[in-house]
Amino acid sequence: MQKIIILDFGSQTTQLIGRRIREMNTFCEILPYNKFPVGDTDVIGVILSGSPYSVHDPEAFKTDLSAYVGRVPVLGICYGAQFISHTLGGRVEKADSREYGRANLESLNTDNPLFRDIRQGTQVWMSHGDTITAIPDGFDCIASTKDVKYAAYASRKGVCGDKGVWAVQFHPEVFHTVQGTQLLKNFVVDICGSRQEWSASSFVETTVAELKRQIGSDRVILGLSGGVDSSVCAQLLNLAIGDRLTCIFVDHGMLRKDEFRKVMDMYAGLGLNVVGVDASEKFFADLAGVTDPEKKRKIIGRDFVEVFNAEAKKISDARWLAQGTIYPDRIESLNITGKVIKSHHNVGGLPEEMHLQLCEPLKWLFKDEVRRVGRQLGMPERLINRHPFPGPGLAVRILGDITPEKVRVLQEADDIFIEGLLNWKTDDGTALYDQVWQAGAVLLSTVRSVGVMGDERTYENPVALRAVTSMDAMTADWAHLPYDFLAKVSNEIINKVRGVNRVCYDISSKPPATIEWE
Ligand code: XMP
Repeated sequence: MQKIIILDFGSQTTQLIGRRIREMNTFCEILPYNKFPVGDTDVIGVILSGSPYSVHDPEAFKTDLSAYVGRVPVLGICYGAQFISHTLGGRVEKADSREYGRANLESLNTDNPLFRDIRQGTQVWMSHGDTITAIPDGFDCIASTKDVKYAAYASRKGVCGDKGVWAVQFHPEVFHTVQGTQLLKNFVVDICGSRQEWSASSFVETTVAELKRQIGSDRVILGLSGGVDSSVCAQLLNLAIGDRLTCIFVDHGMLRKDEFRKVMDMYAGLGLNVVGVDASEKFFADLAGVTDPEKKRKIIGRDFVEVFNAEAKKISDARWLAQGTIYPDRIESLNITGKVIKSHHNVGGLPEEMHLQLCEPLKWLFKDEVRRVGRQLGMPERLINRHPFPGPGLAVRILGDITPEKVRVLQEADDIFIEGLLNWKTDDGTALYDQVWQAGAVLLSTVRSVGVMGDERTYENPVALRAVTSMDAMTADWAHLPYDFLAKVSNEIINKVRGVNRVCYDISSKPPATIEWE
């Protein structure tokens, strides 16, 4: 399949370039700057990303341009543009002041294919400390800004074989570059010749065929969480190998109200072969009296691996462990020197003697692509649009020690909040639930406050409601939920959930707060 290679020099927006290209139904891979796949004939173009370094830093990342310049079209962005100029005989110097923020393109060469349908004066986003003061021989300036002469430049016909080189000092991938997507499309589709064949249905077709080939007649184990990634992964494997896939779904007792049963029913409806393991007693016993958040997390992680392994061992002829790892997990796991700096939390615990090979069919997908594949597979919207839910479950939403009774109280309050979000329709007809990234209730079981119910004094726990908007959970803002909605939920929780006499709404963003309270 055709692909674009994005060489990562460490910019924070490299992933965004990848997302934009995928949105154009074109497959792309983000690789460390020095890992160009020489000899891969599927590569139709290369993009060099930005970088925190200056080309003059001794430790600046360098790539061997001769591996691809002249062979496929190349686009340098920011540092990428400076690196090309610096390496091919141009000049890059420290700018008097950092050029940061909005600028407008002037003297645009609209005959250049990179600028097809781009308007004179269009707004772009600059973010660089160095600036290009001379471009290599055989190259032309194709756009300037008020402060930057070489805002964009390109090779003349024939200078880099019949495949050209383009370079822009601004960032087309960010939102503030108004026609950035058009520019990237001009490069990917018009210049590189992408056939735009990367789609959910082509993904399902090729992945199922590949899984069949890879797994043959072996047996596969998969840990299900009830979330969209592991569920889509299971459904793909189900199509490929049917009941030679065994899924394991562990109930640690801290799932949402009725979630274990509901999710098991949903999986049964999808025709998946699922073993449900109720291990809640073990988890509650091991957590008894523990109040430290990190200790709680460690105990849950350790118990989870133990329970999962005990179950997996029963499937003695399994050869594969499948996981719903997605692309952003893996990009975060690699730094640009290619060294692993974080291993996947759910791989480490498997006993080596099981000799399981890893199978990660979603490893190239972004979250929104996983959802599209889920829809393509006919999975229920309720499952596809599910909010993320932390592995340790409600345990990280109960301050203080954990008991089954506290979990029950929190489940009731949480259920009222979540059902409320699902049932509250906004002006555009969508559920409030679908407008937030994640929501849940938190039981402040270490705090008690006075209230009055009827003629009775109460002295009970508060519940905090948390709802956030986010793109990727790395940063988040508190969701500005309507007051009427909050009033309704608060009323219902206090009236219906015994043990709770006060409801607060968490109005902290991340950073400095985090999404979960523990
Ligand atoms: P924080 O609280 O760090 O959470 O802002 C960011 C996102 O990660 C989820 N989260 C977890 N997910 N295991 C998980 O699978 C965990 O231990 C865990 N802790 C936090 C959290 O729900 C949010 O989506």
